[in-house]
Amino acid sequence: MSETIPPPPSATTGAHMDAEGYAAAYARSLDDPDGFWREEARRLDWVTPPATIANWSFDPVDIRWFEDGVLNLCHNCVDRHLPARADQTAILWEGDEPGVVRRISYAELHVAVVAMALKLKTLGVVKGDRVTLYLPMIPEAAIAMLACARIGVVHSVVFGGFSPEALHGRIEDCGSRVVITADGGMRGGRLVPLKANVDAALERGCGVTSVIVVRHLGNDVPMAEGRDHWADEMAVSGDCPCEPMGAEDPLFILYTSGSTGKPKGVLHTTGGYGVWTASTFHHVFDYREGEIFWCTADVGWVTGHSYVVYGPLANGATSLMFEGVPNHPNVERFWEMVERHEVNIFYTAPTAIRALMREGDDPVTKHDRSSLRLLGSVGEPINPEAWKWYWRTVGDERCAVIDTWWQTETGGVMITTLPGAHGMKPGSAGRPFFGVEPLLVDGDGKLLEGATSGNLCIARSWPGQMRTVYGDHERFVQTYFSTYKGLYFTGDGCRRDEDDYYWITGRVDDVLNVSGHRMGTAEVESALVAHPLVAEAAVVGYPHDIKGTGIYAYVTLNAGEENSEALETELRQQVRKEIGPIASPDIIHVTPALPKTRSGKIMRRILRKIAENDFGSLGDTSTLADPSLVDSLIEGRRNR
Ligand code: PRX
Repeated sequence: MSETIPPPPSATTGAHMDAEGYAAAYARSLDDPDGFWREEARRLDWVTPPATIANWSFDPVDIRWFEDGVLNLCHNCVDRHLPARADQTAILWEGDEPGVVRRISYAELHVAVVAMALKLKTLGVVKGDRVTLYLPMIPEAAIAMLACARIGVVHSVVFGGFSPEALHGRIEDCGSRVVITADGGMRGGRLVPLKANVDAALERGCGVTSVIVVRHLGNDVPMAEGRDHWADEMAVSGDCPCEPMGAEDPLFILYTSGSTGKPKGVLHTTGGYGVWTASTFHHVFDYREGEIFWCTADVGWVTGHSYVVYGPLANGATSLMFEGVPNHPNVERFWEMVERHEVNIFYTAPTAIRALMREGDDPVTKHDRSSLRLLGSVGEPINPEAWKWYWRTVGDERCAVIDTWWQTETGGVMITTLPGAHGMKPGSAGRPFFGVEPLLVDGDGKLLEGATSGNLCIARSWPGQMRTVYGDHERFVQTYFSTYKGLYFTGDGCRRDEDDYYWITGRVDDVLNVSGHRMGTAEVESALVAHPLVAEAAVVGYPHDIKGTGIYAYVTLNAGEENSEALETELRQQVRKEIGPIASPDIIHVTPALPKTRSGKIMRRILRKIAENDFGSLGDTSTLADPSLVDSLIEGRRNR
């Protein structure tokens, strides 16, 4: 039996839901989904409330929720909170430098969003167009997203850590004609040259005609005449009403890595995503009026979309947004900010927890954390040791710790423990959220019952589900619905225990989760082989103390070329250039050859085992074209 920690009094007192409440609501969400989601949809204001609730099929794939409803998510996140919350802080921002703070009230947010929406309109952007956002973690990122939502423009946020090449690919794929960026961003005291990166991306040619540049650092950046506009110099006035949107009208595209090919443009629509983020924010964080909520994710990832912007603001919360990193200027930064801003709910990633845990308890305990009520984790499996440190040292065994499993594709949280309802098991994501029906299947798609391990699928649609891959519906069908007919396949392996708790064991496909960032091995490989000296590359993951998974790259060189330290540096630079620093390999292993079957297929299973230092269970190597290669690979691994 695994250890279960009962929810502490801070979680049960005043909770919106206890264990019986969860059981009843969960059962109803499966027995009467239309009734359940019709009620949950009332968390939002609708121009026309939906008459039809669920209308979906996984075979053939066609997913719709609330399809005849009409609403606007900017209205729901901003306008409808006025005048009641006019003076309440909507976005509480702290810059990279400690104590540099901006407070944007709901009234001010409204003014700023209207102005940004009008600026987009001035540039000729109309409903249905795509606009790419490449911004630092500043309020203008949320403002720009909401401005797009206001006028029915589909935003595509690209993480500021992606390189010009990666940005270019994402602009081209969705055909944006307008980009919103900033003169630069600051992370950990280092300048991120966002505008220069946009210039470099646009040099590669694409249909971008206008760039809006937010003045953030005040540094000089070249401005292209006729194309680039300082946001603060674009004169606009008047009102900009919220565009009434069909529930199934697209809200945003967010690119994410898969096991093959280029990153996919995950498309979310207005009604379903809006209901899912509003509902999960309320229930999962058991959000209570007036609380300060801090999700440390960047808005360039789905966590930032759902739990920095849409979920908190739809609930009228105060969302803390942080430009910097956990270790600048020192490792006390998170806890110092928790104290300064009296944060009630704190939501971060295991990689940050593990890195801070290494620094000992002092940096945490010297700060007053009595405001904290709830601690959340997201992005990768949290190991029990990190979980316990979070629970004991950060939360003083006073704050419930919730792990939350979900994906870019799912729009919001899918598996978690509800703070007031469930006991917590360190290392387990928990129980399914309302409307989520997880299934475990074996490799052949056979349904596995009871306490067991298998591949995690979801049996039925939920409102926050992605609707398609932008511009490639067939890829959507292939990626998620072809492995197991009639089921959504998550790509994750999972164990279900005797209490029906789910334990995510990690990806079972060629996707790596590096510090909570998703990376396709194929993407890193194609960046490596773009180097003129590289013949072939095979990338696998291996266990890494801080990052969870590290990137291990096996590389073969063209005939006659020799490995050197300089070459390894060049290869890392090559990956940074093609994708960004987050994809830089931790280990580069130059080898004379890669293990292949006689038919020429790379045997990744063997490469994975060797990278994991697991030499004892390489399995059958007799089908290898050159079995002796294995010894030299092991030798090479031992030397690293
Ligand atoms: O493998 C799972 C892991 O992250 C993947 C989704 O990555 P992404 O789309 O970038 O979204 C991350 C933020 C929601 C999943 O397929 N993952 C995410 N959360 C957890 C997790 N693995 C274990 N436990 C989690 N809580």
